[in-house]
Amino acid sequence: TVTHAETPCKGSLIVVSNRLPFVLVRNEETQSLSRKASAGGLVTAVAPVVIRGNGLWVGWPGIQLTSEEEPIPESDPSDQTPTAGLKSSQVVSVNLDPKIFDSYYNGCCNKTFWPLFHSMPGRATFSSDHWKNYVTVNKHFAKRTIEALEKHHKNNKSNGTPIVWIHDYHLMLASNWVREQAEERKLECRMAFFLHIPFPPWDIFRLFPWSDEILQGMLGCDMVGFHIQDYCLNFVDCCQRNLGCRVDRNNLLVEHGGRTVRVRPLPIGIPYDRFVHLAETAEKVLKTSKMKIVLGVDRLDYTKGLVNRLQAFESLLVKYPEHRGKVSLLQISVPSRTDVKEYRELKEEVDQLVGRINGRFTTANWAPIRYIYDYVGQAELAALYRDAAVCLVTPLRDGMNLVAKEFVACQINKVPGVLVISPFAGAGEMMHEALQCNPYEIDDAAEVIHRALTMPEDERILRMSRLRSREQECDVNHWMRTFMKAMGTVEFDDIGTTTM
Ligand code: G6P
Repeated sequence: TVTHAETPCKGSLIVVSNRLPFVLVRNEETQSLSRKASAGGLVTAVAPVVIRGNGLWVGWPGIQLTSEEEPIPESDPSDQTPTAGLKSSQVVSVNLDPKIFDSYYNGCCNKTFWPLFHSMPGRATFSSDHWKNYVTVNKHFAKRTIEALEKHHKNNKSNGTPIVWIHDYHLMLASNWVREQAEERKLECRMAFFLHIPFPPWDIFRLFPWSDEILQGMLGCDMVGFHIQDYCLNFVDCCQRNLGCRVDRNNLLVEHGGRTVRVRPLPIGIPYDRFVHLAETAEKVLKTSKMKIVLGVDRLDYTKGLVNRLQAFESLLVKYPEHRGKVSLLQISVPSRTDVKEYRELKEEVDQLVGRINGRFTTANWAPIRYIYDYVGQAELAALYRDAAVCLVTPLRDGMNLVAKEFVACQINKVPGVLVISPFAGAGEMMHEALQCNPYEIDDAAEVIHRALTMPEDERILRMSRLRSREQECDVNHWMRTFMKAMGTVEFDDIGTTTM
């Protein structure tokens, strides 16, 4: 094999993800392309390492290109985001036939893997057609990755062994094709996979008709990372039970095809300093300072438990009428995957529920729920996080959940707010000082919100200061460093606070 687990490498990264770290926008008149940057935490942490190590990023640009050779534009000079320094020569675009892409992305990824991996098999559809297209798309990503690897070896002759880092449930099959082709062409590389969503227990995972192929695909890498230990153990268990692999549960090792694959919990963090800075500089958004705001921020997704949350808030107003007129739930729902029926149906359901609850309680001077269905900028979001009394992070299931972490980072006021978190989010695993809330138990959720709203100041201060120091320490740069160390990178220096 051309991959060497012990070979030190300098941290050259070839990132492979469904989406590039920016989307391309085509000007209707001139047909010219420009970049629209993304502000996500992952991009913030990974992009600087790709840029500095002269690495590459392989991914889908968000629109249909005329061909894969269509030149990617450089970033706009005014672009201040972390991807601004990513040269077009560092980007390898993946262009796919729209029908195949639709079947892979909306079909296999979002109608099958998303609900199944979030332990909601009732919502999953299983289609051999979608699966066929998932295989095709993964093969194509692998082909582009090999081209990227060749380009990298040509341009960086003495730069050590690069790491090919494949991300998320869109690309669980790509690694073996990359590995085989790399071996054939004598292109040295080490390979890692990271799953950003939960990995389900065996009983659920095995419902997928091609589950063996998925495991084999992930095991093509030298290391497989998940957010938390539970997901690692689920994966190891599936490898043993589905494939009959020899496994070491204590050290999280799986033997497969004559290789030993390391499985690692790598809980992602946020660009903490950036959120503190945003909270310090963002202007007030909430003008009614007497009104206590209970905040929710989510992509509009059925895993986020929005219906349960709205019902819990309604129950709060029934059980504790003293909050009427004094507390409002501000729910921001970010539009997501609107091509998928389940998401459109959820929007209908939430719209109706908000309407019903508001109709039931609204007075001339107060409405219980303020509902935003839109994208909200980061500065505005930071101001809302900062000034909210309570933040509800109550998903039914969530790989990690970064909203909980962003809220905590923005708590710079002398008397902080309270975080309410579901134990079914990966973040709930470590944020012990938050109030725990089982979103399935509506009446108890109402009790927890009441407790949060009436919590004494000193208790709020104590809980929040502990939550904040953990998130500050385990920020996204820490995650990146831990990953690089786990891959055996020796010359990786601290990327510091380059995230502002
Ligand atoms: C989750 C996934 C990401 C995905 C994001 C937004 O966080 O783990 O891979 O990019 O959702 O979903 P979308 O389908 O719009 O990319």
